[in-house]
Amino acid sequence: MMKINGSGNTFFLNSRSRILSFGIFALLSLTILIGGQSAHGQETKASARKDILLEGDAKCTRCHDENESNPVLSIGKTRHGTRSDSRLPNCAGCHGESESHIKPKSGQDRPLPTFPFGKKTQNNIEGHNAICANCHKGGKFIHWSGSIHSARNVPCTSCHQLHAEHDKVRDKATQPEVCFTCHKEQRVLANKQSHHPILEGKIVCSDCHASHGSAGPKLMQRDSVADTCFTCHMEKRGPFVRKHEPAEDCTICHNPHGSSIDNLLKKRPPFLCQQCHEPSTHQGGIPGFGSGNSNATKTKGITMGRSCLNCHTNTHGSNNPANVGNERTFRR
Ligand code: HEC
Ligand code: HEC
Ligand code: HEC
Ligand code: HEC
Ligand code: HEC
Ligand code: HEC
Ligand code: HEC
Ligand code: HEC
Ligand code: HEC
Ligand code: HEC
Repeated sequence: MMKINGSGNTFFLNSRSRILSFGIFALLSLTILIGGQSAHGQETKASARKDILLEGDAKCTRCHDENESNPVLSIGKTRHGTRSDSRLPNCAGCHGESESHIKPKSGQDRPLPTFPFGKKTQNNIEGHNAICANCHKGGKFIHWSGSIHSARNVPCTSCHQLHAEHDKVRDKATQPEVCFTCHKEQRVLANKQSHHPILEGKIVCSDCHASHGSAGPKLMQRDSVADTCFTCHMEKRGPFVRKHEPAEDCTICHNPHGSSIDNLLKKRPPFLCQQCHEPSTHQGGIPGFGSGNSNATKTKGITMGRSCLNCHTNTHGSNNPANVGNERTFRR
């Protein structure tokens, strides 16, 4: 009476498979009646064990059932658990026929299945990935074989959980924690004061990165960094009447993952700007700050508040056709 969870499930499964096996039995009897011949003798023997989820899984599920520490049968709640779709693998389709695993030679320890995929046994990652890539190719996977994750032997299964109803990496809310297990630096950055709202769940790594490979640099979703940024920051694409030339490469000034400086900036102005612009810019003094030539006057606007950005407010490009001077120097 008190055994609610585990045994409840088992009971459900058992009763379901009993109904199922009755169906199979009835069907088989019918086939034997019609086909009549001895070839079916063997099948009748095999059907003594019934499949629970997938075609032919009886040879595995007689040992692997709900009692597993990671419930094996929960694959039934995933896309791979749809029995009606013949493109999908059964147990052996992913794990290999595993004959010696099912039936070890007498006196020997049970060898692992051909493709165990287990965390402790990831010594055959290329083989493991090939099993998956055998079906998942073309389309979104066209760049997989040349991608850095593939080249560094990152297993498909370090990102994907196949037996879990909830595949963390494909859910916005839980994806970052999967990536962070290997990319610790990005975790640190994402926690900085200025950051893309990744931890807030508003944007995910896969908005910018194509984990399976891409034609662009750094696994970018689009062909370039800037094109990827433009998918959300369209206004930065322009066209501008006058463009700040380096603005094409967003990562010159921005760290996309996070920074302790506002606006994801890599350095604080004026240092950011002075990487390229001589500190001696504005030799004639800055208009509006008097015509004095003393260093104090010259540096006044530069060290205060937003520094260079006090005046040059349109760093990315300018569109004001009314004032040619302002346009030229990105002040409006
Ligand atoms: C006769 C019982 C039996 C059969 C049949 C059987 N297994 Fe196993 N399997 C085991 C045992 C025992 C282990 C070891 C469990 C452990 O160490 O926790 C195991 C372990 C595994 C593991 C985990 C390996 C690892 O990395 O630790 C996988 C995956 C697996 N079996 C898949 C299969 C598949 C797929 C089939 C069917 C093709 C199958 N098994 C059939 C008994 C069986
Ligand atoms: C789509 C591929 C795929 C299919 C189909 C599949 N498995 Fe697995 N299996 C995996 C992967 C990958 C793992 C490693 C753990 C994970 O990612 O969930 C695994 C892990 C296991 C384990 C080890 C679980 C543990 O606790 O370590 C067992 C046992 C197992 N599978 C048995 C089966 C059985 C039985 C079937 C058929 C009902 C099956 N698998 C179908 C891919 C698959
Ligand atoms: C025998 C072919 C086959 C094998 C082997 C296979 N898959 Fe699949 N997988 C499919 C098909 C077919 C789909 C459904 C695709 C669709 O709906 O467009 C699918 C779906 C998926 C999905 C999406 C699930 C969803 O809910 O939408 C993931 C993730 C996936 N597979 C990963 C893997 C990984 C990782 C492996 C290796 C451990 C693997 N697959 C092995 C055929 C296969
Ligand atoms: C570095 C992590 C990572 C690795 C490694 C990885 N994936 Fe994925 N996969 C993802 C993410 C993130 C998504 C969801 C977002 C997306 O489609 O870009 C996804 C989505 C999928 C989907 C669903 C696609 C769809 O159209 O919905 C399939 C199928 C899949 N992966 C299979 C694989 C296979 C097969 C491998 C190995 C060859 C693999 N993945 C390796 C991270 C990964
Ligand atoms: C807003 C877009 C964007 C998001 C979201 C994003 N990235 Fe990136 N990522 C980039 C760009 C652009 C680069 C290349 C420039 C750079 O390294 O700063 C990059 C580079 C990387 C690199 C390579 C770093 C190096 O030093 O070569 C890793 C690893 C990485 N990202 C992981 C992640 C992870 C993990 C997430 C999710 C937590 C994530 N990224 C989210 C845009 C993004
Ligand atoms: C199992 C570990 C692992 C996981 C999980 C993982 N990665 Fe990676 N990733 C790597 C390795 C290894 C590299 C190669 C570079 C390195 O050594 O840092 C890499 C490189 C990258 C790069 C740099 C690409 C380049 O061209 O330099 C990006 C971007 C990236 N990963 C994004 C992701 C995202 C997004 C996720 C989650 C969806 C993810 N990774 C999950 C191991 C992992
Ligand atoms: C998937 C959409 C998306 C993509 C792609 C994207 N961003 Fe963002 N970005 C956002 C969101 C959302 C915010 C937060 C806006 C807010 O809080 O008002 C943001 C904010 C910013 C900020 C301001 C941060 C702050 O501290 O206020 C900068 C700078 C920025 N993004 C640069 C980039 C760069 C560079 C790229 C390309 C590497 C990029 N973004 C790609 C969605 C995106
Ligand atoms: C030369 C340095 C530099 C480059 C290159 C650059 N930015 Fe910026 N960006 C800045 C500065 C400085 C700010 C802060 C502006 C301010 O506070 O007035 C900023 C702010 C932003 C903001 C947040 C405030 C706003 O205006 O919406 C976004 C989004 C942004 N940049 C996106 C991009 C994108 C996308 C690219 C690449 C196409 C890019 N930036 C290239 C310097 C740069
Ligand atoms: C990676 C180098 C680089 C960085 C960093 C950089 N610039 Fe520039 N800047 C340039 C280049 C190259 C030009 C184009 C020079 C030309 O057209 O004569 C330019 C042009 C300008 C101009 C117009 C100059 C003119 O003569 O019309 C202004 C103003 C300017 N930048 C301000 C800034 C500010 C403010 C920052 C910091 C937020 C900054 N720049 C950061 C490289 C840079
Ligand atoms: C107080 C306002 C102000 C501040 C602060 C300021 N500028 Fe300017 N800047 C101007 C004005 C006005 C012009 C146009 C001068 C002209 O057309 O003769 C200009 C012109 C420029 C030019 C192009 C002409 C030249 O002299 O080379 C560059 C490059 C430039 N500024 C960079 C910077 C950088 C880098 C900083 C920060 C270190 C900065 N400015 C801070 C107002 C300012």
